[in-house]
Amino acid sequence: MSFLNPIGTVIDLAVNIDHVATVRNAGATVNPDPVAAALLACEAGADVITLQWREGRRHIREAEVLALRQQLSTRLNLEIAMSTEMLAFACQLKPHNVCLVPERPTDVKVACGLDVIGKFEQVKAAVAQLQNAGIRVALFIDPDEEQIKASAALGAPIVQLNTGCYAGSVGDAQHQQLQRIQNAARFGVQNGLKINAGHGLHYENVQAIAALTDIAELNIGHAIVAHAVFVGWQNAVREMKALMHVSRVAAWS
Ligand code: PXP
Repeated sequence: MSFLNPIGTVIDLAVNIDHVATVRNAGATVNPDPVAAALLACEAGADVITLQWREGRRHIREAEVLALRQQLSTRLNLEIAMSTEMLAFACQLKPHNVCLVPERPTDVKVACGLDVIGKFEQVKAAVAQLQNAGIRVALFIDPDEEQIKASAALGAPIVQLNTGCYAGSVGDAQHQQLQRIQNAARFGVQNGLKINAGHGLHYENVQAIAALTDIAELNIGHAIVAHAVFVGWQNAVREMKALMHVSRVAAWS
């Protein structure tokens, strides 16, 4: 549940549970169970659960996606690429949100945002198909004005700004990346978009991003799973949520 503050002081945490499934699969066993992890994350304060549904490297299983669609009381966000098969799966599942990402079958993670300008007609058709199924669509894009303009022009209500370059840099370079995200978030809001962000965020770098008051939601996976090894799963979720909340409140005071 979101903190009950006036609009703009609220920041939601979307917990990406894909890496829980990765750990489970690495052991060729049933534990840790990603469905149980998602339900416990919600109890600990997650506002959204994100699942990746990728061609050729699905860590989470179809039965688990279906179970979570039934059992979750919070929002379910499905991250997919724009293949016919994945769009059809999403339209049938009807999660609350779908985030469209570029397909990178060989990478462990998505590194770049979707090229909305280059694939304008394809993205527009995918967004329309999902919206016709009653799903709110986000586009995972790099924090660039032209990509934001194109996202708004084709009718997407939400963008998720890629924080990967921010997370992967230090010092002045990181400050510049932060500035870039801040400017992009402001530009997105001015263009009527809801602004989410994520990729590579962790317990030491999340604060500056959470302090950007134009950002409504952060999508975080690996860092929470990694921290859970030391402090336990629910504590890891609670600590992340608390860090985000404290940074957001400080930004307003
Ligand atoms: N957003 C998108 C589109 C992603 O692909 C990922 C990686 O799974 C994340 C957010 C979360 O990234 P991380 O696991 O580094 O927190």
